[in-house]
Amino acid sequence: MNVTRERAAAVLAGNWLGASTVPSRSLYPHQWSWDSAFIAFGLRHLSPSRARRELVTLFEAQWPDGRVPHIVFDPATPPEAYFPGPSFWQAGRTSGLVQPPVHARAVLAVHETAPDLQFLAALYPKLVAWHDHLRTHRDAGGRGLVAIVHPWESGMDNSPAWDGPLSRVTPATGFVRRDLAHGAAGDRPGDDDYGRYVRLAADYRDSGYRDFGTFAVEDPGFNALLADAELALAEIADELGLPSGAHREAAARIEKALQETLWHDGFFFARDVLTGSLTPEYTCAGLLPLVLPDLAVAPALVAAATGPRFRLGRVHGVPSHDLTAPGFDPGRYWRGPSWSNIGWLVRRGLVCHGEFALAARLGGDLVEIAARTDFAEYVDPLTGAGHGTRSFSWTAALTVDLLADQPAAVA
Ligand code: SER
Repeated sequence: MNVTRERAAAVLAGNWLGASTVPSRSLYPHQWSWDSAFIAFGLRHLSPSRARRELVTLFEAQWPDGRVPHIVFDPATPPEAYFPGPSFWQAGRTSGLVQPPVHARAVLAVHETAPDLQFLAALYPKLVAWHDHLRTHRDAGGRGLVAIVHPWESGMDNSPAWDGPLSRVTPATGFVRRDLAHGAAGDRPGDDDYGRYVRLAADYRDSGYRDFGTFAVEDPGFNALLADAELALAEIADELGLPSGAHREAAARIEKALQETLWHDGFFFARDVLTGSLTPEYTCAGLLPLVLPDLAVAPALVAAATGPRFRLGRVHGVPSHDLTAPGFDPGRYWRGPSWSNIGWLVRRGLVCHGEFALAARLGGDLVEIAARTDFAEYVDPLTGAGHGTRSFSWTAALTVDLLADQPAAVA
């Protein structure tokens, strides 16, 4: 066995709780929604049964209204280990927010590695209910796109794209951040941002997890991943002998809405639904539509990725924010660092659009930096130095997946 793969497998074994995996033993000691999907992409090569268990456990916490909660709390973990915990959310053992819908693609991938029609049949209706929830409860702008109600829902908490919409939110006070006990303050979101996250989450909770409040944003990343998930669902339906046309049509509708409403001057931007304006920041979320095989603007998007703002192939990974922006910060969470899940998704997109050499270079780099930084949560794109927590589960899992996909390039 490749030594990097062995080390990655040990990280995942160390973070396994028995029915799901924590993203990090210290910083994130529960189950997170999109983390679990990325983790399953790696686990499928190590233990398909654990990969299936990871996803089944997440979907056991699905709400009756179809939403898949962004955190499923581990009852054995002490309440002071993470804030905001179950007593804040008042939603049983979960939070009330969601995260990007990468689950259908993960379920399909697990089945492709270790065929299991029973697993597919059990998850398919849950995935359908999840996507239906997003379609029916989240189209705040009436444009056929999902709006997120909180930055945490994008998975890219302090992305500069949220600065404008978040400026309307008055920061909450009187709470204790637990994250700073486990991470350098300079690597984490700032206090004002954190106060706004808490205020928005409390307001959403107090509306019964129903209403759009002061923050409603159409994120190109979230929506591209939903379109991709519909394509995966179509393949799952085909495997099960069920009609799949509606899923392909749903994917095409989202892709059309993305291109017609979020594409501007060679890039995909987020739209602030309350003002109707596009947020002007170039962030890695705008590159994620590359995962869509029919994307007509793919050549222009590849040009944006390799241009001065992201310098793909000439820096480490995919920077989360525009390298030329005054607010670019190479170490602070989603304001500049490269994250392995984004690199992994963009690499997939490059393969999709025939950019094989660039995809191979990116894949090799992602494995090298993961191994060198002890599977850091994120890295400085300019130096490759690790930031955030270490032994981070999705970094380890996606390394395993990359090694399985292109062993020659990264041996
Ligand atoms: N990413 C958030 C945190 O840092 C919650 O999902 O805690």
